[in-house]
Amino acid sequence: MSYEVKSRKLKQWVQEVAALCQPDAIYWCDGSKAEYDRLMRQMVAVGSATQLKRRPNCFLFRSDPSDVARVEDRTYISTPNKDDAGPTNNWIAPDELKRIMLDLYRGCMRGRTMYVIPFSMGVLGSPMARIGVEITDSPYVVCNMHIMTRVGVKVVEALGEDGDFVPCLHSVGAPLAPGQKDATWPCAPMEKKYISHFPEENLIWSFGSGYGGNALLGKKCFALRIASVMARREGWMAEHMLILRLISPQGRQYHIAAAFPSACGKTNLAMIQPTVPGWRAECLGDDIAWMKIGPDGRLYAINPEAGFFGVAPGTSYDSNPMAMETFKENAIFTNCVLTDDGDVWWEGMGVPAPAHGIDWRGRDWTPESKEPGAHPNARFTAPAAQCPVISPDWEKPEGVPIDIFIFGGRRATVVPLVIESFDWDHGVFLGATASSETTAANIGAVGALRRDPFAMQPFCGYNMADYFQHWLDMGDRLGRRAPRIFYVNWFRKSPEGGWLWPGYGENSRVLVWMCERVEGRAGAQETPVGYLPNAGDLDLTGLDLPPENIRELLRVDREAWRAEIPDIQRHFARFDSRLPARLRDQLIALQKRLEAGES
Ligand code: OXD
Ligand code: MN
Repeated sequence: MSYEVKSRKLKQWVQEVAALCQPDAIYWCDGSKAEYDRLMRQMVAVGSATQLKRRPNCFLFRSDPSDVARVEDRTYISTPNKDDAGPTNNWIAPDELKRIMLDLYRGCMRGRTMYVIPFSMGVLGSPMARIGVEITDSPYVVCNMHIMTRVGVKVVEALGEDGDFVPCLHSVGAPLAPGQKDATWPCAPMEKKYISHFPEENLIWSFGSGYGGNALLGKKCFALRIASVMARREGWMAEHMLILRLISPQGRQYHIAAAFPSACGKTNLAMIQPTVPGWRAECLGDDIAWMKIGPDGRLYAINPEAGFFGVAPGTSYDSNPMAMETFKENAIFTNCVLTDDGDVWWEGMGVPAPAHGIDWRGRDWTPESKEPGAHPNARFTAPAAQCPVISPDWEKPEGVPIDIFIFGGRRATVVPLVIESFDWDHGVFLGATASSETTAANIGAVGALRRDPFAMQPFCGYNMADYFQHWLDMGDRLGRRAPRIFYVNWFRKSPEGGWLWPGYGENSRVLVWMCERVEGRAGAQETPVGYLPNAGDLDLTGLDLPPENIRELLRVDREAWRAEIPDIQRHFARFDSRLPARLRDQLIALQKRLEAGES
């Protein structure tokens, strides 16, 4: 150990895990660049990473074909009482799950080094920051954690003798026999993968996967699932939200926190370049927001992460130029195409496909190949500080005051471009009933419609009905200082299948309308589903969009909305008597509004 560890809890836990997992060596990470460089060199030497000639200090990894995304089916919230995990989570009782996993962990690090990664979510010194320690046998995880969190000796110092931390245990689940050659991406078969959370103990155990949200335990496991439980206990919020600052031509700042399901353009929106003249935007975070009521009664948000772990395919200088600039150097790429001149490429990168390359499975690839060269959930990991539009305040310890919440999803039909909620409870109803067509970010069917409340369906660490109640309670506490709530759908299609709205930077037109609503300056029409802008309320100057598109985007089709009701009823019925009565009332009110004035 190259630094002193005073925390007895940490020393003891590391010893216990070492005795259980039986690694060949234990290495305490110091978070230094030298450490990162050394591990990368080692991974290049054994063939699990490729250094990119065309991008300074960038590396490409190819995962095992079975280990390409989060595994929601293998993700557990393990509470003594099943009802406390609720109907949206997989559940196994803690004793039983620990028994299963202890068997798996026994000797699972043989032939490997066990890395101890002390990390902070949020800048050290922020009243909202929390400490975690991840133990892993994956050097890929260590390097990603260096980018995604704040790793290092300072964290151990902050822990002192008796500071608290969230223990996060991870193993790829692939012990090595003496002399056995390692896989380039070791992992365990699907039936042995477990991504487990024990909220009562603030404990995370992950086994068998080396990929993203399954393995970088500071992210989904800690900053969302465990933190959501802590937040409810302690009266704050941990949300699957980007944080964005919009600045008006007059210099007024608006802070927006927006929740979208995975792969719905959250990273693009987080780094938006507004097309409305005079308006500017700064990015504060692209995936997670921790929010707490400040001394002035407003809700303040920090981004607990330090990097972006974004979906690569579809990211281009058109869709997200700021992301393209962010990962020019010091980035990790996973499951992209390797070009012959030593760069990465993916579908939708906006540059011609290479005549030849190596696909994400390590096979020769040409544009004539039948399958995509990059996996649809291929990723980049890049330091947030490298984003050209990162806000100068992105590491402000007290966070930024949120003015606007946005929920959304990917819906080809029914849901208009934007809705403003009538009030907080209606906004919570919009969040609670949010729906989206599924994407490649999770292993499973792509394109199926699912309700994804607050984009937290895969990430809420407790009974979702109680989570709805927590939102209502926060609204009660915030009162008139509560952010305004909106719902957007950038993904509406015409019957012929074309996009009705151009999206990307043009989404700023909708954001500007929201800011103007906050100021009481912009108009709106009252509809049964909420306030919608009239076509004339949106600044559409310079946008070459057929008026019929706008009409369709802002049309409320009562018939189609009525057809949604049974699905919302089914969705709510899952929560049984735990569903807050205030949400039941919202549904009844919606039904009444849809029927009013109609024969
Ligand atoms: C992510 C996700 O990686 O939501 O952010 O899947
Ligand atoms: Mn996410």
